[in-house]
Amino acid sequence: MKRILIINGPNLNLLGLREPDIYGKQDYKALLSLIKGTEAVYNVTTEVYQSNHEGDIVDKIQSAYGNFDGIVINPAAYTHTSVAILDALKAVGIPTVEVHISDISKREEFRHHSYVSLAAVKTICGHGLQGYVEGIEFLVENY
Ligand code: DQA
Repeated sequence: MKRILIINGPNLNLLGLREPDIYGKQDYKALLSLIKGTEAVYNVTTEVYQSNHEGDIVDKIQSAYGNFDGIVINPAAYTHTSVAILDALKAVGIPTVEVHISDISKREEFRHHSYVSLAAVKTICGHGLQGYVEGIEFLVENY
Protein backbone atom coordinates (compact mmCIF):
# COMPACT_ATOMS: atom_id res chain seq x y z
CA MET A 1 0.00 0.00 0.00
CA LYS A 2 1.51 3.34 -1.05
CA ARG A 3 1.88 6.11 1.51
CA ILE A 4 1.11 9.58 0.18
CA LEU A 5 1.90 12.81 1.99
CA ILE A 6 -0.19 15.86 1.07
CA ILE A 7 1.35 19.21 1.97
CA ASN A 8 -0.48 22.53 1.88
CA GLY A 9 1.23 25.88 2.24
CA PRO A 10 0.13 29.23 3.64
CA ASN A 11 -3.49 30.38 3.74
CA LEU A 12 -4.88 27.12 2.38
CA ASN A 13 -6.33 26.50 5.86
CA LEU A 14 -8.67 29.39 5.00
CA LEU A 15 -10.25 27.66 2.01
CA GLY A 16 -13.90 28.56 1.70
CA LEU A 17 -13.34 31.95 3.33
CA ARG A 18 -10.43 33.01 1.18
CA GLU A 19 -11.21 34.57 -2.23
CA PRO A 20 -14.00 32.08 -2.99
CA ASP A 21 -14.24 33.34 -6.59
CA ILE A 22 -10.74 31.97 -7.14
CA TYR A 23 -10.46 29.05 -4.72
CA GLY A 24 -14.09 27.96 -4.42
CA LYS A 25 -16.55 27.77 -1.55
CA GLN A 26 -15.47 24.41 -0.16
CA ASP A 27 -13.54 24.69 3.08
CA TYR A 28 -10.38 22.97 4.31
CA LYS A 29 -12.40 20.25 6.06
CA ALA A 30 -14.02 19.42 2.73
CA LEU A 31 -10.55 19.04 1.22
CA LEU A 32 -9.55 16.72 4.07
CA SER A 33 -12.55 14.49 3.53
CA LEU A 34 -12.03 14.49 -0.25
CA ILE A 35 -8.47 13.27 0.32
CA LYS A 36 -9.56 10.70 2.93
CA GLY A 37 -11.98 9.33 0.35
CA THR A 38 -9.11 8.51 -2.01
CA GLU A 39 -7.66 5.93 0.42
CA ALA A 40 -10.18 3.21 -0.38
CA VAL A 41 -10.38 4.08 -4.07
CA TYR A 42 -6.61 3.97 -4.74
CA ASN A 43 -5.57 1.64 -1.90
CA VAL A 44 -3.29 4.23 -0.33
CA THR A 45 -2.71 5.76 3.07
CA THR A 46 -2.68 9.54 3.26
CA GLU A 47 -1.43 12.14 5.71
CA VAL A 48 -2.32 15.78 5.22
CA TYR A 49 -0.10 18.54 6.58
CA GLN A 50 -0.68 22.28 6.41
CA SER A 51 1.62 25.08 7.53
CA ASN A 52 1.91 28.80 7.06
CA HIS A 53 5.67 28.59 7.71
CA GLU A 54 8.28 27.87 5.06
CA GLY A 55 10.79 26.19 7.41
CA ASP A 56 8.13 23.90 8.84
CA ILE A 57 7.30 22.75 5.31
CA VAL A 58 11.00 22.08 4.68
CA ASP A 59 11.14 20.05 7.93
CA LYS A 60 8.07 18.06 6.90
CA ILE A 61 9.55 17.24 3.48
CA GLN A 62 12.81 16.12 5.13
CA SER A 63 10.94 13.90 7.59
CA ALA A 64 9.07 12.26 4.68
CA TYR A 65 12.28 10.53 3.57
CA GLY A 66 11.84 6.79 4.07
CA ASN A 67 8.29 7.25 5.33
CA PHE A 68 6.32 8.19 2.21
CA ASP A 69 6.25 6.92 -1.38
CA GLY A 70 4.86 10.09 -2.92
CA ILE A 71 4.12 13.73 -2.14
CA VAL A 72 1.30 15.94 -3.39
CA ILE A 73 2.17 19.54 -2.59
CA ASN A 74 0.40 22.84 -2.98
CA PRO A 75 3.10 25.22 -1.77
CA ALA A 76 0.68 28.16 -2.21
CA ALA A 77 2.56 31.49 -2.25
CA TYR A 78 5.89 29.71 -1.58
CA THR A 79 5.55 28.18 -5.05
CA HIS A 80 6.80 31.42 -6.49
CA THR A 81 9.52 32.23 -3.98
CA SER A 82 10.92 29.18 -2.23
CA VAL A 83 14.24 27.75 -3.33
CA ALA A 84 14.32 26.07 0.13
CA ILE A 85 11.21 23.98 -0.61
CA LEU A 86 12.57 23.13 -4.07
CA ASP A 87 15.87 22.01 -2.55
CA ALA A 88 14.14 19.92 0.13
CA LEU A 89 12.10 18.10 -2.53
CA LYS A 90 15.25 17.48 -4.58
CA ALA A 91 17.10 16.28 -1.48
CA VAL A 92 14.59 13.58 -0.52
CA GLY A 93 13.90 12.55 -4.12
CA ILE A 94 10.34 11.43 -3.42
CA PRO A 95 8.09 11.58 -6.53
CA THR A 96 6.14 14.80 -6.12
CA VAL A 97 3.08 16.20 -7.84
CA GLU A 98 2.56 19.97 -7.61
CA VAL A 99 -1.07 21.04 -7.35
CA HIS A 100 -2.65 24.48 -7.66
CA ILE A 101 -6.36 24.98 -7.17
CA SER A 102 -6.37 27.95 -9.54
CA ASP A 103 -4.73 28.18 -12.95
CA ILE A 104 -1.62 30.16 -12.02
CA SER A 105 -0.69 30.62 -15.70
CA LYS A 106 -3.80 32.77 -16.20
CA ARG A 107 -3.30 34.97 -13.14
CA GLU A 108 -0.86 37.74 -12.22
CA GLU A 109 2.58 37.59 -13.84
CA PHE A 110 4.30 36.90 -10.50
CA ARG A 111 2.37 33.62 -10.19
CA HIS A 112 3.56 32.31 -13.55
CA HIS A 113 6.91 31.05 -12.32
CA SER A 114 7.14 28.06 -9.99
CA TYR A 115 10.37 26.93 -8.33
CA VAL A 116 8.68 23.74 -7.16
CA SER A 117 7.92 22.71 -10.76
CA LEU A 118 11.65 22.07 -11.17
CA ALA A 119 11.36 19.13 -8.75
CA ALA A 120 7.84 17.94 -9.60
CA VAL A 121 7.07 14.96 -11.84
CA LYS A 122 3.77 16.61 -12.76
CA THR A 123 1.97 19.90 -12.18
CA ILE A 124 -1.82 20.13 -12.03
CA CYS A 125 -3.34 23.63 -12.21
CA GLY A 126 -6.85 24.97 -12.24
CA HIS A 127 -8.75 21.76 -11.51
CA GLY A 128 -9.96 22.98 -8.12
CA LEU A 129 -9.82 20.57 -5.19
CA GLN A 130 -10.11 17.68 -7.65
CA GLY A 131 -6.47 18.40 -8.56
CA TYR A 132 -5.39 16.76 -5.30
CA VAL A 133 -7.27 13.57 -6.23
CA GLU A 134 -5.67 13.63 -9.68
CA GLY A 135 -2.26 14.06 -8.08
CA ILE A 136 -2.76 11.03 -5.84
CA GLU A 137 -4.05 8.99 -8.80
CA PHE A 138 -1.01 9.96 -10.89
CA LEU A 139 1.41 8.84 -8.19
CA VAL A 140 -0.40 5.54 -7.69
CA GLU A 141 -0.44 4.78 -11.42
CA ASN A 142 3.12 5.85 -12.22
CA TYR A 143 5.28 5.18 -9.15
C1 DQA B 1 -2.28 28.54 -5.20
C2 DQA B 1 -1.82 29.64 -6.16
C3 DQA B 1 -0.79 30.55 -5.51
O1 DQA B 1 -0.36 31.55 -6.42
C4 DQA B 1 -1.36 31.21 -4.29
O2 DQA B 1 -0.38 31.98 -3.64
C5 DQA B 1 -2.00 30.25 -3.36
C6 DQA B 1 -2.75 29.12 -3.88
C7 DQA B 1 -3.43 27.69 -5.79
O3 DQA B 1 -3.73 26.65 -5.20
O4 DQA B 1 -4.03 28.07 -6.80
O5 DQA B 1 -1.96 30.45 -2.14
O6 DQA B 1 -1.19 27.67 -4.97
